[in-house]
Amino acid sequence: MSGTPHAGLAAKTALIAGATGATAKRLVEVLLDAGWRVVGISRRAPAASNNPRLKHLRADLLDAAGCARALAAADGVTHLFYTARAAFGEGGVESIEDNVAMLRNVLDAADAAAPRLEHVHLVEGQKWYDVHVRPARTPTREDDPRPRQANFYYDQEDLLRERQAKRDWSWSASRPHMVYDFAPGRSRNVVSVIGAWAALCAELGTPLDFPGTPGCFSALMEFTDATQLARAMLWMATSEQAKNQAYNLTDSCQFRWRWLWPRIAAHFSLQVGKVRPLRLAQWMHDKEPAWQRIVKRHGLAQDALRDAASWPFADFLWGLDSDLPTDTTRIRRHGFHGVVDTTEQILAHLRRYREARLLP
Ligand SMILES: NC(=O)c1ccc[n+]([C@@H]2O[C@H](COP(=O)([O-])OP(=O)(O)OC[C@H]3O[C@@H](n4cnc5c(N)ncnc54)[C@H](OP(=O)(O)O)[C@@H]3O)[C@@H](O)[C@H]2O)c1
Repeated sequence: MSGTPHAGLAAKTALIAGATGATAKRLVEVLLDAGWRVVGISRRAPAASNNPRLKHLRADLLDAAGCARALAAADGVTHLFYTARAAFGEGGVESIEDNVAMLRNVLDAADAAAPRLEHVHLVEGQKWYDVHVRPARTPTREDDPRPRQANFYYDQEDLLRERQAKRDWSWSASRPHMVYDFAPGRSRNVVSVIGAWAALCAELGTPLDFPGTPGCFSALMEFTDATQLARAMLWMATSEQAKNQAYNLTDSCQFRWRWLWPRIAAHFSLQVGKVRPLRLAQWMHDKEPAWQRIVKRHGLAQDALRDAASWPFADFLWGLDSDLPTDTTRIRRHGFHGVVDTTEQILAHLRRYREARLLP
C-alpha cells in the first residue's frame, strides 16, 4: 500500500520514549518489520520479547540524571520518537511543566548519547485545536491560529523547534485523534469501551443504547488507528517532505456514531436502542456483578470491569458534542496516503477481542 514504510533503512536505530504507551506499541512493530533496531524507554518494562533488535531501558524521564544514565546505554540512535505523556486525569489539563521537562531531559540526554541523531518525531494530538474544551473550527488545519487555552503540545513543539535550529537533525510532529487499537490490558481504548458497554447491555437485557450526548451521536468524527499512526510516524521520520513539519493524522475517513451503532449492535446480536446520556463513571459503580456474570458465561480471560474499559474515558469520548473533522490534505499532498476504514477497523478489532476471549 502506498504510505507504507520505506525499505532499505536497515541501518537505522529508533529510540522510543514512552515505549509502553498506546501510540508506541504499533510503532515498535512497524519499525521492527522495517528492519530497524528499536530501543524503548519508560519506567515500566513492556512484555518480554525475544527479538534481538528490540531492547528496553528503564528510566524516569522526569529525572534528568537518570534519563542521561539510561540513554548512555542506547547505542547508535538515529531517530527519536517521543511518545511519552506524564500521568493525567481524564478531562483534566495535562501538566505543561512535567511534559516539557520530560522532553527536555530526553533531548539533553540525546545530545550527549546520540551523536548520529537525524530526526526527532513528537506525537501531539487534536487537543492542539482545543477540541476537548470547546467546539473547534473545523476541519482542523495545521496552520490554524493557536487557541488561547494553554496546552503542553505548544510548549513541547516550541522547545523542539528551538533545539532543532541549533542542531543537525530535523523534527516532525503528528496530531492524531482518539488512537484506537486491539490493545489487551489497555482500558483507555475506544474499542474495549464499546465492547464492554455492549456486553453489559446484552447482560442487562437492554438494546444497545448510545450512552453519550445526542450531539455526539450525530457529530462527524475522525479517529486514528494505532497502526496507521505508526506507519505515518515512520514516513514522517524518513521523508524529505516531512522535515520540520507538523501533520494532522487520522484514518482519513469520517464517520458518525449513529452510522456505526447498527454495525456494533449487529456484532453483539443486539437491537439498536435510543440515545440515553449517562455518566458512565458513576453508572458503572454497581455493575461489577453483571460483568462477573459475563466473564463466567463467556469464559473471558478478563477480570475486573475497570480493567476492561475506562469509564471516565468513555464519558470524555461520548461527550464530544460537535463535529470534529480533521483536514489531512497536507500529509496526503506531501506523500503519505494511508487510509483506514474506521468502521471496518473497529469491527475487526472487536473480532480480535472476541477471539482472544477478552470480550464476548
Ligand atoms: N492515546 C490517544 O488516544 C492519543 C490521541 C491523540 C494524541 N495522543 C498523544 O500521544 C502522546 C502519547 O500518548 P499515549 O496515549 O501513547 O500515552 P500513554 O498510553 O499514556 O503512555 C505514556 C507513556 O509514557 C511513559 N511515561 C509516562 N511518564 C513517564 C516518566 N516519568 N518516565 C518515563 N516514561 C514515562 C509511560 O510509561 P511508564 O508509565 O511505564 O513510565 C508510557 O509508556 C501524548 O502526547 C498524547 O497526548 C494520544
